[in-house]
Amino acid sequence: MLYKRIDVLLCCGSGCVSAGANKIKQKLILEIAFQDISEEINIIETGCMGPCDAGPVMLVYPEGVFYQKLTVEDIPELVEEHFKKGRPVKRLMLQDKENIYETKKDLPFYKKQIKVALENCGHIDPDSVDEYIATGGYEAIGKILTEMKPADAVQVVKESGLRGRGGGGFPTCSSGNLLPK
Ligand code: FES
Repeated sequence: MLYKRIDVLLCCGSGCVSAGANKIKQKLILEIAFQDISEEINIIETGCMGPCDAGPVMLVYPEGVFYQKLTVEDIPELVEEHFKKGRPVKRLMLQDKENIYETKKDLPFYKKQIKVALENCGHIDPDSVDEYIATGGYEAIGKILTEMKPADAVQVVKESGLRGRGGGGFPTCSSGNLLPK
């Protein structure tokens, strides 16, 4: 991916797609071209960022500004004010009576979360193996295949305490004793 002045991460998880993310993307491409800044903007589709009920959601870097509940009608203002003039659009940010939550790290939704296995979800393009590899993808399997015995790999997973993938909360390595020694 080429370096550009602004990276626009548009959530294209199923929740945001059902709320209109594809139309947002089409309008973004058109509007960015119309305002003559296509050379400066990367539009990157990501997997689910988490707060699906706020969709369609978007993250804009380098600042990490988080926009929510976007509509096609919001896009011309967003492109002109934020992308062109550098003035983030507060009315499209999550807010309550006391606060406007400007960036992703400010959002109450994320405050108590520590993502481990899904730490890059919402940050990289799920269709790009290059982005996966650039963020450490396949490093663990490479280490397992070249440096470890199967039983040692199972032990590492057991000791990690990893559990709950899929929501059931079951230990990830409960069938580890079926692997060859
Ligand atoms: S699908 Fe976009 S936040 Fe979950």
